[in-house]
Amino acid sequence: MTLVLGIGVRAGTPYRELRDLVNRALAGQEGSVGSVVTVQGRESEPGLQRLVASLNAQLLTATSLELAEQVVPTPSDQVGQLAGTASVAEAAVVLSGAELVVPKLKSPGATVAVGRLNAVAAPGYSLSDREVVHRVIAERRDVRRGFLDKPVDDELLTRVLEAAHRAPSVGLSQPWDFLLVRDVATRRKIHDLASAQRDAFAASLPADRRSAFDGLKIEAILDTPLNIAVTCDPGRGGRHVLGRHADPRTVWFSAAIAVQNLWLAARAEGLGVGWVSFFEPGEVAAVLGLPAHVDLVGYLCVGHVSEFGAAPELVRSGWAARRPLAWAVHQEQWGQRGLPGEEPSPAVAVQAAVAAAESPERVASGRQVVRVRVVDGGEVAEHLGDADVLVVQVGTERPAADFGVLWRPARTADEAVELGVEVARDLVLQGAGKLLVECVAESEIAERLTQGIRWGALACGAVANGQDEPETVSDSSA
Ligand SMILES: Cc1cc2nc3c(=O)[nH]c(=O)nc-3n(C[C@H](O)[C@H](O)[C@H](O)COP(=O)(O)O)c2cc1C
Repeated sequence: MTLVLGIGVRAGTPYRELRDLVNRALAGQEGSVGSVVTVQGRESEPGLQRLVASLNAQLLTATSLELAEQVVPTPSDQVGQLAGTASVAEAAVVLSGAELVVPKLKSPGATVAVGRLNAVAAPGYSLSDREVVHRVIAERRDVRRGFLDKPVDDELLTRVLEAAHRAPSVGLSQPWDFLLVRDVATRRKIHDLASAQRDAFAASLPADRRSAFDGLKIEAILDTPLNIAVTCDPGRGGRHVLGRHADPRTVWFSAAIAVQNLWLAARAEGLGVGWVSFFEPGEVAAVLGLPAHVDLVGYLCVGHVSEFGAAPELVRSGWAARRPLAWAVHQEQWGQRGLPGEEPSPAVAVQAAVAAAESPERVASGRQVVRVRVVDGGEVAEHLGDADVLVVQVGTERPAADFGVLWRPARTADEAVELGVEVARDLVLQGAGKLLVECVAESEIAERLTQGIRWGALACGAVANGQDEPETVSDSSA
């Protein structure tokens, strides 16, 4: 829709004449006609209306006064006397903001000129403004420590809530609400729920991971003057919310984005926010008296803080590591990883780089031992008794949801290696320092995936059992 037609037309000019003239004018022009502009009073001409319909364009008008103000290459005194403007076709193009690419062509009853709208990319913010945006994103932290005994000012809080409320939402359904909780008795009840979940999680961990977890603070419910429960009403807006019908999850996504807006605005205002998810959501809903149709999305602890950590607390404590962006970007096809402008390569290509001690893949710093069992179909419950076991299921049937089971139904042997590398890399990011990998299936897919896990672990600087490392990594498992 890049072309604009300016048309001057005498009353009664037939469609055919207009069509032929326009075809002549458009010969050799690329793009389609988005709009046809004529002088006010001629918009009801049947020939013109038919032409506009055949072009699937919109018909716009301009007054003769507006047209007369335009500077055009071929004005006509005769037209000026008749129509009150020395040009219709060219002036209409110029007035529309398009660049005149075909000056006036004439037929007995009409004139046509063609313009091209050069779409200009909207400008971004100034460099310093952009730096601020990226800085807020980078320096936003989940805060659990260092809250000050200082109330949150109402105006400040309103600004932060405004930011949350500006979030995008599916069909503009705005499914969120913000329940502000200051009452200490209520917060104590919520705190009790989080403590119980903390204990349950601790009990589920293998011993080495548990001692690391014991040192972590996972909430600041009573340390902050304000808690905010962000909720989602999945039915808000009724039956025909645009875009929600095919993927109902989009309402919860929308509410989560509102949390992110809140988080960023709070950081910019110097307000710390800590998200607590150590809850069974229904229990929190009961304490808060939420209506049954409303879901809890996020429970946030909010207050002024003495400082914001330079890195995530889970990174600083050694619990987990950040995933390199290049692992997360795929080009054209899943598995072809690499940053924009880089030659994409599969994850398994790390095997070529693993010997280099400075390899960016070498992210392992954890000490956790994970026993990985690769299975192909069948029951997995027998493997899950010990907390340090992770089952990787390559069978095609999706297993019942269980965080002890990773489903990786690789479609080819190469993909199996690839997925194995990825599994290992992400385990290392979650604190694994040693992987004891065992293939308890006889299929090629299971064996290749097992191999990929070992390679991935070694590539990240973790220890992996087994003798089938690629040659380049023979010295890297120490
Ligand atoms: C959905 C969600 C739930 C979270 N739940 C908790 C939680 O229960 N306790 C906690 O300490 N941090 C929680 N966090 C914070 C994450 O641990 C934190 O975002 C992550 O470690 C990265 O740190 P950063 O937010 O400072 O960049 C949660 C974050 C999100 C997005």
